[in-house]
Amino acid sequence: MEKNNTKTIIKIDHASRFYTVGDITVKALNDVSLEIKEGEFTSIMGPSGSGKSTLMNLIGCLDSPSDGNIYIDDQPTFNMDETELAFLRNSKVGFIFQQFNLLSKLTALENVTTPLLYAGIKKKERVERAKAALEKVGLGDRIYHRPNEMSGGQKQRVAIARAIVTNPSIILADEPTGALDSTTGEQIMELFWQLHSEGRTIIFVTHDRNLGYQCLRQVHIKDGHLEDEK
Ligand SMILES: Nc1ncnc2c1ncn2[C@@H]1O[C@H](COP(=O)(O)OP(=O)(O)O)[C@@H](O)[C@H]1O
Ligand SMILES: [Mg+2]
Repeated sequence: MEKNNTKTIIKIDHASRFYTVGDITVKALNDVSLEIKEGEFTSIMGPSGSGKSTLMNLIGCLDSPSDGNIYIDDQPTFNMDETELAFLRNSKVGFIFQQFNLLSKLTALENVTTPLLYAGIKKKERVERAKAALEKVGLGDRIYHRPNEMSGGQKQRVAIARAIVTNPSIILADEPTGALDSTTGEQIMELFWQLHSEGRTIIFVTHDRNLGYQCLRQVHIKDGHLEDEK
């Protein structure tokens, strides 16, 4: 992957996301502006309920802002419809979640091939690419295991393989080590460094200050606002 550290790959321009529940409007994100350059490895830290997942969903085109704009690779997502958002998401973004979000009835290999199925790639290539992704995360010998036959760390490796099998330039990880012990968390962090060394842009949401401060840049969020960068 070509590395060009001057290009802005994610631009958040005065973005807000309000949720209305009954009579109450929750300002989950309130006038947030942030630029992320290609190849950056950034942590997003903040207390529970501060808007971290809301911000990730906007960056990952799972949701669009109530106000303001988000540009992914110079493309504005405000006013995009579901189909356009899905296209951008599938072509540029890999997601990793705290609870792995694997399909429990499928093997590791089948879980990792799933995004390629949606991308319309033929079976032989799907299997080859999924095997290569699983080997890359150190699970070449577990491809026929199902989630309930794997440890938490192994499940997260499968989820990482699934996130990278489409070769996305942006990796969004929402508390990826939150359900793991600290040693396993460090091992998962190693994998993120590997993805970073390939030129991918990584955004890593964490509660863990130790892991957060290992990232190259820190962004702090509180009550839907970004705090000054340190
Ligand atoms: N779908 C939703 N409907 C209503 N309120 C929501 C929804 N999602 C999140 N919120 C609220 O928005 C705020 C930010 O949530 P979230 O982004 O999940 O925080 P974090 O990931 O930092 O814990 C919280 O107050 C939460 O209750
Ligand atoms: Mg969250």
